[in-house]
Amino acid sequence: MAQIFIDTASVEEIREAASWGVLDGVTTNPTLMMRAGAADLKANTLKIVEIVQGPVSAEVLSTNAAGMVEEARDILSWSEHVYVKIPTTVEGLKAMKEIASWPNGRINATLIFSPTQAYLVARAGASFASIFVGRMDDAGLDGMEVVRQTREIFDNYGFDCQVLAASIRHNGHVLDSLLAGADILTVPFTVLQKMIYSPFTDVGVERFLADWEKVAGKE
Ligand code: E4P
Repeated sequence: MAQIFIDTASVEEIREAASWGVLDGVTTNPTLMMRAGAADLKANTLKIVEIVQGPVSAEVLSTNAAGMVEEARDILSWSEHVYVKIPTTVEGLKAMKEIASWPNGRINATLIFSPTQAYLVARAGASFASIFVGRMDDAGLDGMEVVRQTREIFDNYGFDCQVLAASIRHNGHVLDSLLAGADILTVPFTVLQKMIYSPFTDVGVERFLADWEKVAGKE
C-alpha cells in the first residue's frame, strides 16, 4: 500500500485531511512553514504530530554537516513521530550517515533530483528518499522517470529506504507515482481534494436522490 502524506504546514489543512481517515503523515519545509506563518518550528511540528500521530518531517536549516547533525539531535528529540529532513548534498550525506547510526535516526532525505542521489541516501541510511517530481517537470525533465528508476534500484538491492514522490502538482502525478510503485506520496491539500473529486459522482448522487424522491413521494 502506498502511504499518503500531506505537503503543508497548515494546521487547518492537516486537521481537515486527517478527518478524511486516509492520512498517514505530513511533510513540511521552510517555505511551507513561512506560508503557514509558523515561526516556531518546534511548536508547529508538535501541533501537527498531535493531529496525525504518524511521520511528520521537519527540515534543518544548516548547510554544513556538523550544523545539520546538531539540529537533527534537537528535532528528533521532540517526538518519536518526527523525521528530520536533510538536503541531499555532500554535507547532507555526511550528516545522514552520522544520524542514521542513532537509535532514533529517522531521516527524510530531501531535494532528490536523480536516481544516483537516491542510491547514495539509501546507502547513508535514510528512511525516506524524497524525489521532487514537479520541480523536474517544471524544468522540462521527466520527474516520474526518476521515481521509476529509483524504485528499480531499491528493489535490485533490497534497500529499506522508502521511495517518496514529492513536489506533486496534479492528479496525473498521483496516478503515475502509484503505478511506479512509490511507497509514499506527499501531496498538497488541493491535490488531495482532486484525488477524491469527480463531477460524475456528484451528478450520480443527485440523480439517485431525485429518483428516490419520485418513489418516496408516491407513498
Ligand atoms: C517535499 O517534502 C517538499 O516539501 C515538497 O514536495 C516540495 O514541493 P514544491 O516543489 O511544490 O515546493
